[in-house]
Amino acid sequence: MKILITEDYEQMSRHAARILASQLTLKPDSVLGLATGGTVTGMYQRLIALHREDGLDFSQAQAFNLDEYLPIAPEDPQSYHTFMQTHLFSQVNFSAGSTHIPNGLAADAEAECRRYEASIEAAGGIDIQVLGIGRNGHIGFNEPDITFEAGTHQVTLDEQTLLDNARFFPSVAAVPKRAISMGIKTIMHARRILLLASGLEKSDAVHRMINGKITPALPASILQLHPDVILVIDRDAAALLPEGLRTSGSVAKEAQHV
Ligand code: PGA
Repeated sequence: MKILITEDYEQMSRHAARILASQLTLKPDSVLGLATGGTVTGMYQRLIALHREDGLDFSQAQAFNLDEYLPIAPEDPQSYHTFMQTHLFSQVNFSAGSTHIPNGLAADAEAECRRYEASIEAAGGIDIQVLGIGRNGHIGFNEPDITFEAGTHQVTLDEQTLLDNARFFPSVAAVPKRAISMGIKTIMHARRILLLASGLEKSDAVHRMINGKITPALPASILQLHPDVILVIDRDAAALLPEGLRTSGSVAKEAQHV
């Protein structure tokens, strides 16, 4: 794992956007794996700025999002379809039909999981997968469990996740209890993984992801086995990491140049 520790959320967002921008510049037809949530919105704002000011081009790229609530209509204000339209898709130049999110209204959710997984494979697999991390260590909606789920699948959301996501809904009761999520295998097959974390409330999950044992009880711990992971985390999210790791020359130096 490569770990970049930034001063704050803003610097984390800028750095993460640059990593995605360089991916797109080097390979304009990249397949991007994208995420929703409060952590990634700053990165999307920077990407929009790079598109407007520097001509960063999304026209040949494809995007696959990690997950969607179940059931939810795409036009629902709380859907991840709406989130992505608002925070990125409507403001950059993806080509029509090149952005993909699981269908939260699929009559046959199992068939939708299989279709989604197959469409990622048909696109040639994901070049770079953006991840946030839940306070419970989830990635996508892969919640703590006794086994790692493999491909795109239906999930029942964890109590912690319902509470955490209630801030986007009128009440906790209004948060859908189920979702479709890429699985751990889907995520681990991405060629490169870019995980962002900000804030003290993520510090325990970040610490256990890096230093804990690999266990489905902390789904992000599986990333220790991926050969190309970049963690871009701010100082607060890094608060529980060993001192040597937090202040190591290369990390601090790279962070300064963001
Ligand atoms: P957040 O969610 O960015 O809203 O904290 C991250 C996640 O749950 O993966």
